[in-house]
Amino acid sequence: MEMVKDYVEGSTMQRRDAVDIIEEFSSELSKVRGKCLDIGSGPGDITKDLLLPLLPHDVEVVGADISQAMVNYARQNNNDERLSYIVLDIEGRISKEQIGQYDYVTSFYCLHWSKDLWRAFKNIYKLLRPNGKALVMFLGFHCGFEAYVRLGQNPRYEFYLQDARRYVPYFQRKMCKNMRASLRKMLEDIGFEILHCSKREKSYQYSNQSLKNHVLAVNPFIKRIPDNMKSEFVDNLISEILSQNVLTPLDSKNNELVLRYYLLIAYIKKPQSAT
Ligand SMILES: C[S@@+](CC[C@H](N)C(=O)[O-])C[C@H]1O[C@@H](n2cnc3c(N)ncnc32)[C@H](O)[C@@H]1O
Repeated sequence: MEMVKDYVEGSTMQRRDAVDIIEEFSSELSKVRGKCLDIGSGPGDITKDLLLPLLPHDVEVVGADISQAMVNYARQNNNDERLSYIVLDIEGRISKEQIGQYDYVTSFYCLHWSKDLWRAFKNIYKLLRPNGKALVMFLGFHCGFEAYVRLGQNPRYEFYLQDARRYVPYFQRKMCKNMRASLRKMLEDIGFEILHCSKREKSYQYSNQSLKNHVLAVNPFIKRIPDNMKSEFVDNLISEILSQNVLTPLDSKNNELVLRYYLLIAYIKKPQSAT
């Protein structure tokens, strides 16, 4: 996700959901001690505006993202003396120096991008100190992602969308029947103690323009599409999304609609006894 400005402008749904979760867990967040890692911190606005103010004043926060462009933007635009940003792939190799360095991990709207969610959670386990906790929220299912796969079957776009399925949220890609139970089992098998694990149905109301902004904000393919095809690609992607029956048209004149999706939320602890 390199198109930072598009993400900042088109991420109102993600921001709303982060506000909800941070508010729900605010009492827990106010008790955090030590060092906190925010995985998939993106442009850094959620980390700085929503997370930082709730944490006690002596807590140091590190925002981590796989994208150098996101980290650069965050450093320039969402700076604070208690906050720093690093490039980190949560599915990559965790260096010896990073193991057990964090008392708390947060991650909002990132882990559904994981190719291998087990590896991502295993790394979170490694990064935490014993007794450390993690609060994660990510997409379980979103109808919009199937539109990538269907558009990838169109000969005009198949070259650019060969790996479209890889970008479908992890449990949706695996066609998982009970994603909450599967997530819970994965976390328990890794060794986490489960403090909370839920699947929540959500919806978001879009106007024609806000849907376009959203599609641009989270689109992993747009950079690959030649400039002269970008606009029609976005229009075709929106038509694909609109063609699905999970959408409720509210006002067909203004193309207003409601889009349904599922979030997974987990609050987990690395046991004191863990090494
Ligand atoms: C949708 S943004 C969420 C940003 C912010 N947390 C928010 O709630 O608005 C997802 C971020 O996760 C990052 N990301 C994707 N895969 C990642 C990985 N394997 N490791 C670290 N960050 C990753 C992307 O670069 C992107 O900045």
